[in-house]
Amino acid sequence: MERTFAIIKPDAVERNIVGKVLEKVEAAGFRIVGMKKIQLSKKEAEGFYYVHSERPFFGDLCSFMSRSPVVVLALERESAIAKWREVMGATNPANADAGTIRKEFGLSIEENTVHGSDSPESAAFEIPYFFSQLELL
Ligand code: TYD
Repeated sequence: MERTFAIIKPDAVERNIVGKVLEKVEAAGFRIVGMKKIQLSKKEAEGFYYVHSERPFFGDLCSFMSRSPVVVLALERESAIAKWREVMGATNPANADAGTIRKEFGLSIEENTVHGSDSPESAAFEIPYFFSQLELL
């Protein structure tokens, strides 16, 4: 069993499609081990995305991620990290495969509905960034 970290991003929460995304999570065989709705400060978004701090889109990305609430999730299943990346689809919804969350719901390369850890190292940083041990069940 492996755990990954996911975010239902502001564009999805604003459009009231949290439930539609969670349906995909559960249909793909993930167990939800942690889940809460929070609003990130700009600083918290910057800390979360620190690996991208030198990229040209960093400022806009952190403004977007902190503009309204998100739902953060810790998810568990076999090969959770790779499987969740598959269910999300490509970063740019225009390039995402049919049936993926980003293809179905993504608005743009920035407002692409969901986040997912890209490696075990990322998951090991991201899960405890948002959840304490007591919140993972
Ligand atoms: P990245 O880690 O490359 O993608 P993914 O979310 O698929 O792991 O980028 C992180 C986020 O940054 C991405 O979800 C949306 C945003 N982003 C942009 O706004 N513009 C871009 O050109 C890229 C590559 C990413």
